Formats: sequence, C-alpha cells, structure tokens
Amino acid sequence: MAHRLFEGKEHAASYWKYRISPSHHLIEKVLDFLEKHRGRPFNLAADVGCGSGQGTLLLAKHFVSVVGTDVSPAQVEVALTHGKAPNITYKQCAAEQLPLADGSVDLLTAMSAFHWFDRPRFLQEAHRVLKPRGCLALLNYTVDMEISYADCCSHTLNEVCKEFYAALQPYRSPHIGRSSIELYQEAYRSIPYPDKEWHECLWVTKPMPLSSYMGLIESFSSYQTMLRDDAQKATKLSEDISQRLLSVMGVTSTDTEVEVSVKYFCLLACKPEEE
Ligand SMILES: C[S@@+](CC[C@H](N)C(=O)[O-])C[C@H]1O[C@@H](n2cnc3c(N)ncnc32)[C@H](O)[C@@H]1O
Repeated sequence: MAHRLFEGKEHAASYWKYRISPSHHLIEKVLDFLEKHRGRPFNLAADVGCGSGQGTLLLAKHFVSVVGTDVSPAQVEVALTHGKAPNITYKQCAAEQLPLADGSVDLLTAMSAFHWFDRPRFLQEAHRVLKPRGCLALLNYTVDMEISYADCCSHTLNEVCKEFYAALQPYRSPHIGRSSIELYQEAYRSIPYPDKEWHECLWVTKPMPLSSYMGLIESFSSYQTMLRDDAQKATKLSEDISQRLLSVMGVTSTDTEVEVSVKYFCLLACKPEEE
C-alpha cells in the first residue's frame, strides 16, 4: 500500500517552493560511486519518489536520459511544469512497480522518499531494473535541521526549532517511525551486495528567508497531518514559532535571511555483476 500523504495540489506546489535538495557535492559523491563501480557512460538514471523534480533536475546534466517517477499525480504535475529538462521524462507510478525494463538503469535514486515506500518490495524492484554494476543511492536528511542568523545565539534559536519538531513528532506516520535514519540503516544491512557504503553527517547549508524555513517545515507530512487534524492548532503553532524566532533574532520581518543547515545521510550500493 502506498502511503499517500503528498497528494494535495497546494502541498505539491509547496514542495517546489520550499524543499531542500541535495547539494552538488552530495550528487558528486553518488556519481563518484557510480563511476568507480560501473564506469561511464552514464546512460539512464531513474529518480523514484521524485516529488516536484528538484533532485531529478540535478541528475539531468550527467545522464543521457533521466526518468522521474512518483505515485502522486499532483507532484508529477508540478514536476512537469517546473522540473523540466530536454532529457527528463516523468511518469506517475508506484516505486514498487516501475515501468522500466529489467537491467536497464545505471543509477536509481530516491531522495527523501525511500522511507515512504514498501521498502522490501522497492529493493526487489531496484534489483530488477538495475544493470549489472548499476548503483542504488538512497538519500535523506534528519529532521533536526538547524538555523543560524548573524550574531544571534544559535543555541537559543535552535531550542525554539526543537520545540517545533517535538510538537510535530506525534503526527509522524507510523510507517516512518520516530526516526527515518534507522530505516535506512536497516535497509543497508539487508542489502546483500558486497559493494555498499553508508555516509552520514553530510551537511547542506542554504541561505533562505525565515518564511521559507517555515514553509519547509510546513511541507513535512507531519505538519500536513496536523493541519488536516486541527487546522487552527497547526496554524497557531507555526505562527507562534515564527514570532518567537523573530524575537530571538531581534527582527520583525520573516523576509529576513537565515542559514538553514540539514544533515544528510546516504546509502550507496552496487548490484553485483554475477548473481
Ligand atoms: C518527501 S517527498 C520527496 C520528494 C523529492 N524526491 C524531494 O527530494 O523533494 C516523497 C515523495 O515520495 C512519493 N512517494 C511516496 N510513496 C511512494 C510510492 N510508494 N511510490 C512512488 N512514490 C512515492 C510522494 O508522493 C512524494 O512526492
């Protein structure tokens, strides 16, 4: 069963506007692994659970062609509008049943998406579509992102952020549990390929207005669930947090730019030549 928490058109649009994508440095790490284990040319990449296509776009210049897939029609619609490149096609389909031929894919990625899938079935599907020595890259970041602003005390600022994350915790889907990193570590252990790597604490820092940081957190499925359960509660929580952050920063406008740092982790695995 797909965990379809990303269906609303507004939610999909907020993805395009606010979501953080992996840095070029992180994409290079994935490509280095692919180059080392499979080598060039890089023909086909598939980005599964592509959402609005930010991550898919990062792959486009490195591959002859890229397929972005997502189960949500609203996300695919946004990707088709904003995540365009001549060599990218988007398909609406489940991660566990990809419309890709056996042994056809050089690189299969899932960026902040694998935890939503039926994980064992997806790993089997990945095995089916990957070429021999093709690579799987599962990327995600932890929710404890940090913000900083000028000379302002980061500790005080992030204590407020932590309260925001704690208030959303009860609204996390049971499918992804308390922390997604454990699900990826479990997948890492379960993948029987000898060539695999685990990386964590890969920081990606981006400047953005405080309003975009708030938009990013509001795009989380836990906030969206809270919003559906009790819109007033969710809106008030977000407004209170925003006001308190402004007060710690000593400014009045949410257009004020802060630095947002997210901690990525990634699982890289290469399908063996012979089975
Ligand atoms: C958190 S978003 C990440 C989107 C994008 N990759 C990014 O980095 O912003 C997760 C995406 O996975 C998709 N998704 C969830 N379960 C899925 C499944 N079983 N098959 C395909 N896509 C799925 C959702 O529709 C959503 O767009």
